[in-house]
Amino acid sequence: MLPIINRGTWSRVHAYQKMLSEFMKLPGEKQIVSVGSGLDTTFFYLKLKFPKVGLKFVELDFEEIVTKKMNIISKNATLAKMKEDAGDSYLVIICDLRDTSKLSEMFGKAKLDPKVQTFIMTECVLVYMEPKHSRALVNFCGSYFENVAILNYEMINPHDALGKVMVENVKARGCKLLGLQEIDTIEEEEKRFTNAGFTKVKGITMLEFYNKYADEGERQRIEKIEIFDEFEEWNMLQSHYCLVLGSKGNIPLTL
Ligand SMILES: C[S@@+](CC[C@H](N)C(=O)[O-])C[C@H]1O[C@@H](n2cnc3c(N)ncnc32)[C@H](O)[C@@H]1O
Repeated sequence: MLPIINRGTWSRVHAYQKMLSEFMKLPGEKQIVSVGSGLDTTFFYLKLKFPKVGLKFVELDFEEIVTKKMNIISKNATLAKMKEDAGDSYLVIICDLRDTSKLSEMFGKAKLDPKVQTFIMTECVLVYMEPKHSRALVNFCGSYFENVAILNYEMINPHDALGKVMVENVKARGCKLLGLQEIDTIEEEEKRFTNAGFTKVKGITMLEFYNKYADEGERQRIEKIEIFDEFEEWNMLQSHYCLVLGSKGNIPLTL
C-alpha cells in the first residue's frame, strides 16, 4: 500500500483505539457492540491491553463474514484460546442490520443490558446502507441503551472530483456506498445521531482528527516510518472521511 493510504489506515485505527481505551478506563461494567464488525480484531486488542477489565463484547455481521471470521479464529491457537476463555462475554452474531425488528430480541439473547454503559462501533459500515436503514439502526441503538456512546467513521463529500473517484473506486470493487449521496456532510452525519436521541454529538473530518486529536508522540513515531511529501493530496483525502461521536446518558467521552 502507498504510504499515504497506510497513514490514513493508521489514523482510523488510532481514533478507535484512543476512544475505546478511554472508555475502558471508566469505572463500572462495560459493553461494546461492534456493528458490521467484519474481520476487525478490536476485542483481542482490548483483552490484551486491559486484561483485568470486565467486558462484554458483541459483534454483528452477515453470515458469510461471521463464518469466515470464526474459521480464522479457530485456526489460530492464541485467538481460539482467548475466544474460549471469554465464553459468553465475546459473541459474534449473524444478523442483517437492516432488519431492526429482530435487534431487540437479539440484544436480549446476547444479554446486552440497556442500563450498562455501552460503546457502539460503526466503523465504515453505515455508509454501505441506505439512509433509511442506517437511520433505523442508529435510532434503535439510541433508544435501546440508556448510557451509550457511538463512534462512526466513514466517507463524506462525494460530490467533488475526489469524492467522485472515491465512489467509483468502491463501485469497481463490487460495493455501493448507498448512504453517501444523502448523508454527505458532517452536518448530515451529526443530524443522524442527534435525531436518534444522542444528546451530545460532534463530527470532525479525519484531517482534523489527525492534526488536532491524534496522540502527538505516536504521530511523530509513525511519520518517521513511512515518509511522503504529497501533503495537498493527504489533506484532500482526509477531508473525505469523518469521525462522529454521539453520546447520551452518563458517558464522559468527548471529541
Ligand atoms: C467495510 S467493512 C468494515 C468492517 C469493520 N467495521 C472494520 O472497520 O474493519 C463493512 C462491514 O459491514 C458489514 N455489513 C454491511 N451491511 C450489513 C448489514 N446489512 N448487515 C450486517 N452486516 C453488514 C459487511 O458485511 C462488512 O463486514
